Amino acid sequence: MFDVIYDTVKAFSQIRFGPWQGLGNVLLVGEGNLSFAKSLFRHPTAHITHMTATVFEKGRNLSDKTVQNANFLRKCGAFVLYGIDATKLEESLKPQKFDTIIFQFPNVNSRDAKYGRNPNYVMIRKFLRNAAAYLEPSGKVLISVVDSPYYEGVFQFDEAAEFAGYETPECYPFDPYCFFEYSHTNTTDDDSAIEDYRKFLTWVFKLKQ
Ligand SMILES: C[S@@+](CC[C@H](N)C(=O)[O-])C[C@H]1O[C@@H](n2cnc3c(N)ncnc32)[C@H](O)[C@@H]1O
Repeated sequence: MFDVIYDTVKAFSQIRFGPWQGLGNVLLVGEGNLSFAKSLFRHPTAHITHMTATVFEKGRNLSDKTVQNANFLRKCGAFVLYGIDATKLEESLKPQKFDTIIFQFPNVNSRDAKYGRNPNYVMIRKFLRNAAAYLEPSGKVLISVVDSPYYEGVFQFDEAAEFAGYETPECYPFDPYCFFEYSHTNTTDDDSAIEDYRKFLTWVFKLKQ
């Protein structure tokens, strides 16, 4: 009887909160204005034990909002680092393992092909490969993107997972409005391109055992 109740509650919570549960020791990369990192601290199911929140841009290029959010995060005990390239983590982070590594709406500031490929295709593969070295064996990488054939073609997540040593990823609907005060920003300005879209996905990557 209790098993049935437990399984029902678990299934309901999986549908409602998807992978945003029990995140443990978290690394965030490409955080833009750090508002998603901040929102996770208030998220009811995130259960963060420690957070390292990182921004690609260097300290001198940050908006006032980013600095305010960084101050909030530091008061909560998080490490906040600037100028961190998600494809070269070893240049800035000492060897360590995280339970969850998060990259929300990855996007490089370029449309110029790299090795004949879309630069986002190249970046996400390098990131996944790099993240694998920083992930607990039972940990997960979460990547949220717009749910559209265009982005599916750009990222090709199934193939990227195979390339970087992960199982075939699962995906869940992502609702930005479930994250209190999360204000997504573009790579090049403080506007939000996701306001033009209605559907988003979070892809969940687990290492091959
Ligand atoms: C569309 S913005 C999303 C920002 C933020 N994650 C959010 O959800 O609001 C894409 C972000 O990816 C970052 N980015 C691009 N290339 C990166 C790289 N190699 N390493 C880390 N971040 C990168 C950009 O600086 C930018 O902040």
